[in-house]
Amino acid sequence: MKTSEVSKFYYFFPQTVAVIGVDTNVMPAAWHTPISAQPPLYGVLVSPKRYTYSLLNRKHGFTVNFLEHSKAPLIARIGSTSGRDTEKLKECNIKAAPADRVSGVILLDSYAAYECEKFAMHEYGDHFLVVGKIVLIYYNEGIINHQGIVNENIVSPMLYFGKDRYITIDPDTLAVHKRE
Ligand SMILES: Cc1cc2nc3c(=O)[nH]c(=O)nc-3n(C[C@H](O)[C@H](O)[C@H](O)COP(=O)(O)O)c2cc1C
Repeated sequence: MKTSEVSKFYYFFPQTVAVIGVDTNVMPAAWHTPISAQPPLYGVLVSPKRYTYSLLNRKHGFTVNFLEHSKAPLIARIGSTSGRDTEKLKECNIKAAPADRVSGVILLDSYAAYECEKFAMHEYGDHFLVVGKIVLIYYNEGIINHQGIVNENIVSPMLYFGKDRYITIDPDTLAVHKRE
């Protein structure tokens, strides 16, 4: 394999896209990750340049919303405008309901969403890792299979492939290999 000096390291794509909701603002994040099962912790990486970052500093929680691939045009839009200048929910006709336990919104077109209480926030280079404790989970009935996992035949998750490209899965490629 070829080597290179380290600059951009975007070879980890594709990543699912999560929409982070704080107060009444929303922003897509491709950099997000589960952190702990017990307690249930979820992390999102937010640049301090984002309006979302300033909201996260002031508020005690946020939401994480998962949308299908068909919503890629919306993601591109809310990922290129700032809540500093626009009310994205209104401008983009986003159907949303206030979160129950934190200051944020649940996007009604999501197939699943989490409400998170802010647990920790640490700076790592040019992003902040914002860790939330999941306090409430939403999911569309019928999308979960008998193993408690998203049904690949029903949900076409939105994957971000970098450089404004979005892709989804082909359920025919599913392979199951039991761990020994
Ligand atoms: C697909 C996609 C993924 C993104 N992922 C991240 C991310 O993980 N972290 C981040 O800080 N910004 C990310 N961005 C950029 C922000 O979403 C974008 O700057 C947005 O306009 C910020 O909105 P705000 O100023 O209202 O917070 C992403 C944008 C797109 C389109």
